[in-house]
Amino acid sequence: MVDTSAIYQFLVNCLTNTGDIEQHPKYKNISFIVQDAAEPIELPPARKEYDTVIQSMGLCSHRSPVDLLRNLGKVCKKDSGKIILLEHGRSHYEWLNNILDSLAPEHAERWGCWWNRDVEGIVKESGLVVEKVSRYHFGTTYWIEARPAESLAPNS
Ligand SMILES: C[S@@+](CC[C@H](N)C(=O)[O-])C[C@H]1O[C@@H](n2cnc3c(N)ncnc32)[C@H](O)[C@@H]1O
Repeated sequence: MVDTSAIYQFLVNCLTNTGDIEQHPKYKNISFIVQDAAEPIELPPARKEYDTVIQSMGLCSHRSPVDLLRNLGKVCKKDSGKIILLEHGRSHYEWLNNILDSLAPEHAERWGCWWNRDVEGIVKESGLVVEKVSRYHFGTTYWIEARPAESLAPNS
């Protein structure tokens, strides 16, 4: 069983130690890096690329979501790597998009979250290759499975 309080305390320690890579004394295969996700991402020692990159509910909040996705693609295995996105954004329905659009600036000002972003459009623009898209909650919640664009060179 995982001791979540220890992980929580470790996360707090990491967050007060911005910029460092830390290893938890108990969970040796987990490390936390506090950084801008669009900046070059340090790869784990003895590995060249990550097998899987999971990103959740970040495209709404990042200043440049396309750059963020391209950056994630750079550190993911080109042949077999997967990028999993759990995101929220525009709906299937225009009546709901109109509500999201009209309240978006106020919502973003308060929470730093643009809830009317075109998530599928952002992923397409990033060049990631989409393998699966599932949408829930009137189409506002997205589960996307993708893989890196082959043209992206690691940390270029
Ligand atoms: C809605 S929260 C989602 C948090 C978490 N991923 C989750 O799913 O519960 C959006 C997160 O994006 C983070 N964020 C915004 N800009 C970022 C950036 N440039 N690099 C890394 N994280 C960023 C914010 O700090 C915030 O924690």
